[in-house]
Amino acid sequence: MKFKNLLFFLLLSIVYNTIHSQNKKDEETLKINKKVDSLLSLMTIEEKVGQMNLYNGFWEVTGPVPKDGSSKKKYEHLKKGLVGAMLSVRGVEQVKAVQKIAVEETRLGIPLIFGFDVIHGYKTLSPIPLAESCSWDLEAIEKSARIAAIEASAAGLNWTFAPMVDISRDPRWGRVMEGAGEDPYLGSKIAAARVKGFQGTDLSAPNTMAATAKHFAAYGFAESGKEYNSADIGTSTLYNIVLPPFKAAVDMDVKAIMNSFNDLNGIPVTASKFLQRDILKEKWGFKGFVVSDWASMQELITWGFAKDKNQAAELASKAGSDMDMEGYIYVEALVDLVKKGIIKASIIDEAASRILNVKFQLGLFEDPYRYCNPKNEKNLIYHKSHQEAALDIAKKSIVLLKNENNILPLKKEGQKIALIGPLANEKNSPLGSWRIASDDNTAISILEGLKQYKNNTIQYEKGVDLYTGNTHFIKELKVNTTDRSGINEAVKIASESDIVIMVLGEHGFQSGEARSRTTLDLPGLQQELLERVFGVNKNIVLILNNGRPLTIPWAAKHIPTIIEAWQLGSQTGNAVAQVIYGDYNPSGKLTMTFPRNVGQIPIYYNQKSTGRPTNENDNVFWSHYSDSEKTPLFPFGHGLSYTTFKYTNLSLDKKAAKINDTITVKVEVTNTGNYDGKEVVQLYIQDVYGKNVRPIKELKGFALVPLRKHESKTVTFTLDKTKLGYFDTEGNYIVEPGEFKIFVGGSSITSLESDFQLVQE
Ligand code: BGC
Repeated sequence: MKFKNLLFFLLLSIVYNTIHSQNKKDEETLKINKKVDSLLSLMTIEEKVGQMNLYNGFWEVTGPVPKDGSSKKKYEHLKKGLVGAMLSVRGVEQVKAVQKIAVEETRLGIPLIFGFDVIHGYKTLSPIPLAESCSWDLEAIEKSARIAAIEASAAGLNWTFAPMVDISRDPRWGRVMEGAGEDPYLGSKIAAARVKGFQGTDLSAPNTMAATAKHFAAYGFAESGKEYNSADIGTSTLYNIVLPPFKAAVDMDVKAIMNSFNDLNGIPVTASKFLQRDILKEKWGFKGFVVSDWASMQELITWGFAKDKNQAAELASKAGSDMDMEGYIYVEALVDLVKKGIIKASIIDEAASRILNVKFQLGLFEDPYRYCNPKNEKNLIYHKSHQEAALDIAKKSIVLLKNENNILPLKKEGQKIALIGPLANEKNSPLGSWRIASDDNTAISILEGLKQYKNNTIQYEKGVDLYTGNTHFIKELKVNTTDRSGINEAVKIASESDIVIMVLGEHGFQSGEARSRTTLDLPGLQQELLERVFGVNKNIVLILNNGRPLTIPWAAKHIPTIIEAWQLGSQTGNAVAQVIYGDYNPSGKLTMTFPRNVGQIPIYYNQKSTGRPTNENDNVFWSHYSDSEKTPLFPFGHGLSYTTFKYTNLSLDKKAAKINDTITVKVEVTNTGNYDGKEVVQLYIQDVYGKNVRPIKELKGFALVPLRKHESKTVTFTLDKTKLGYFDTEGNYIVEPGEFKIFVGGSSITSLESDFQLVQE
């Protein structure tokens, strides 16, 4: 009885606190809205448009006033209050100097927001986002974003252009490294975790920053994976695959949304009213502001969509783009358009107030130098605890693709190791792409990591160079296709060793923006090197470092052990070494399907049913290729451990459920091997028939389950109408009665299956 009372009071106080904090939040919002309105009433139309203008950094602010054309213009605009935010100005001293101009020299002294691409860290680098997503560990992902925000805000920044939440099914697109893979359910969870990590619980705290979900929308569906290309997709894909992670970010109160470089079905998204006003602002009630991508407003002219800058400004602003990034379109055209009556003043008011609102929330009106504390900059950047967290998530991001004959974990003594490959002693490439603020060569290389295990001997040979030239500029990065001079030496050390560890893949700057590829093989002479080494020693552990799925059919067939180690950031070498030696039992699972060849792309697990799905009757007229298997090389959700897991006793609490019911799914998972480990237990559904053709499988739940050797646990999932429905082609969310299948297992090739009927209320 007493216990019951306690429980009751506990519940009551939780409800009270929730309502109370919601009320407090609402009060705060009202207060800020009032402040914005009164500030707006003091502003001229020019100043309001100024808030909508975002400039890239322009000169050493602590140096002399810039003399050349565009920098001089930017400086003058800044002093006149015609700039609302800056990007790429960073470091306390720089930020302070620019902020001072805005605050002290402009008429109203409105502070600037300082934005930057803080994608997977500021100085301390976490794994590239695609790698992080393979951890399926939302807590660790949130923490990684938190640390990025702590370091970046210590350098004066208060706005990041992350997370990138574009779902993509095309590894030819270089920007898949920035995202969370191919699945909208996992992608939504990760989007929310990253926004939470960046923004924290109090945006005005000096160690949090406003986040930006980008790129809105469908950039990940650029045709053929070609950068900056058109996206031509149906509404079913748009509503069910592309938009959910953005919606999850909005629900997490993300402060900004960035639009993208693509058009969607013929309309450049920067000028898409349908996306920005109808869906984002109206249907979803997004309260933050929309920023264009770099000069994407100006590109409306290049596209042949707007005849000149006036029309570009008109189209973009009417469509709901609030801020112009480095496009000079708004600042040059908007005022006149309003004066001529072409654009309503309310459009400018709305955009400016959205931006000012975020500035108030950031606490910039209370203290414009809130993020400018040199002590924080000195003490927090590269903090030891950040390195520890980066190591933690780096280990969790590694995916063991194959481990035949249990070569791994490696014995800690008595082994003669040959370490071979152009990426084995790299300290720069593992930092990955999108790390503008980082210091070159600060990653721990795999050679450095392995050397810490001193009771084995290591001989190292590069074998071949991967590239020559400046890696920072993709144009200058020349893949080596001719110099084979190091191969013989590598073959020699391989022949003298017990085990060969080869580190191959892509340089960190071979993926990222503007880095689309038509082939996904190991670049340059790496395949040749691999085959030559295999010729003398088959005991190979292949460690892949890459920013996207690669096509490695030969390696998948011949090489006994393959680790997908992506680009893991500052702690790369330590993370890889700990996994190789079994100090961390790998637990990552792929979040993007690995194709066998480029012709299979797009290949993804949640493909729709077709009218001719199988070849059961040996019929040639079924959905397949005649020169390649239909299956991927490694499926979505795949990843091994040093132990094994067995799935049994899948049960559902109902065989028939009403639409408003919750269905409980239970499964028993047992660690049947000889190591403690962790399994990502995955739950998929199939809506067997519906008004629209449904995917053959859809991820609807996952759980990270630590299991000691021989331990069993029952894992519980719940399903309800938020997971069982889908968006029809008009964008309405519908839940249809009928048969549903349930699949549970350790990858999208699941081991257990059950079903239930969903019936009308
Ligand atoms: C990218 C954005 C990025 C912006 C600012 C653009 O080229 O597409 O993702 O935030 O540059 O650096």
